[in-house]
Amino acid sequence: MKVAVLGAAGGIGQALSLLLKNGLPAGSELALYDVAPVVPGVAVDLSHIPTAVKVAGFGADDLDAALVDADIVLIPAGMPRKPGMDRADLFNVNAGIIKTLAEGIVRSCPKALVGVITNPVNGTVPIVAEVFKKAGTYDASRVFGVTTLDVIRSEAFVAELKGVDVSEVKVPVIGGHSGTTILPLLSQVEGVTFTDEEVAALTPRIQNAGTEVVNAKAGGGSATLSMGAAAARFCFSLVKGLQGDSNVVDYAYVAVDNGDAPYFAHPVRLGKNGVEEILSYGELSAFEQKAKEDMLATLNKDIQEGVDFMAK
Ligand code: LMR
Repeated sequence: MKVAVLGAAGGIGQALSLLLKNGLPAGSELALYDVAPVVPGVAVDLSHIPTAVKVAGFGADDLDAALVDADIVLIPAGMPRKPGMDRADLFNVNAGIIKTLAEGIVRSCPKALVGVITNPVNGTVPIVAEVFKKAGTYDASRVFGVTTLDVIRSEAFVAELKGVDVSEVKVPVIGGHSGTTILPLLSQVEGVTFTDEEVAALTPRIQNAGTEVVNAKAGGGSATLSMGAAAARFCFSLVKGLQGDSNVVDYAYVAVDNGDAPYFAHPVRLGKNGVEEILSYGELSAFEQKAKEDMLATLNKDIQEGVDFMAK
């Protein structure tokens, strides 16, 4: 298994790479790419951890070498937001970065499973898809927006609120990865019930959790450690699927035919080809149904921005 991390020297990239060094199957390769000159040092640093995962660092001019034969590519590269910014405010600076990296994937590993973390995920995933379409290498089942952070935050907040064992909590989260487009389905959490007031308070807390971190870091960036943990968890699901486990179901922002929007986070069954099946997210409560209808215009606008960027 070869996993490439693009943007490996940043806050998310380093946390993610550490978790992958410790958690990928023995014999795997971890390719760390970044334009920051510290990346060879990050690779040397990680290589001193005694696990059977080989690490190599690749600098600015070595994107293609980092990507060659990768099975999975994870992309946390790009600028994080500062207090007062929305994820959408990052579009202009991160769109070009994502396009360049996607073009590298086309050249070196067009069959890889690609997990996009770079914000705004609602718009950067369509950019990756459009780059692949233009090159004739697009396979919708291989491109994912990583929304696992919304899932793990929901698990943490629900466990805290209800005083239950966090390892037992499962919270479906659908939609996109920004503000109201993040839709936790609290009505489907097994083993606990919520009052209407709790749903009305917890839903926006989950939707604004990224902003909670941005504000707490006070200009020092956005979530890195929890995002690293989330992306590693999602990567391990992809790995299990690639290894032939046909019972891996996770949530991700994927292209959907005839769905709520052209891209929408759904439960997906993963396998050797990435998405084997897009599963239904089930029945929504009246609150969730309204929240979904209310956010679709924003989500569609975010998606269109990505598509339009590539049409220019
Ligand atoms: C998050 O959810 O924490 C990330 O998408 C980063 C951000 O800007 O909120």
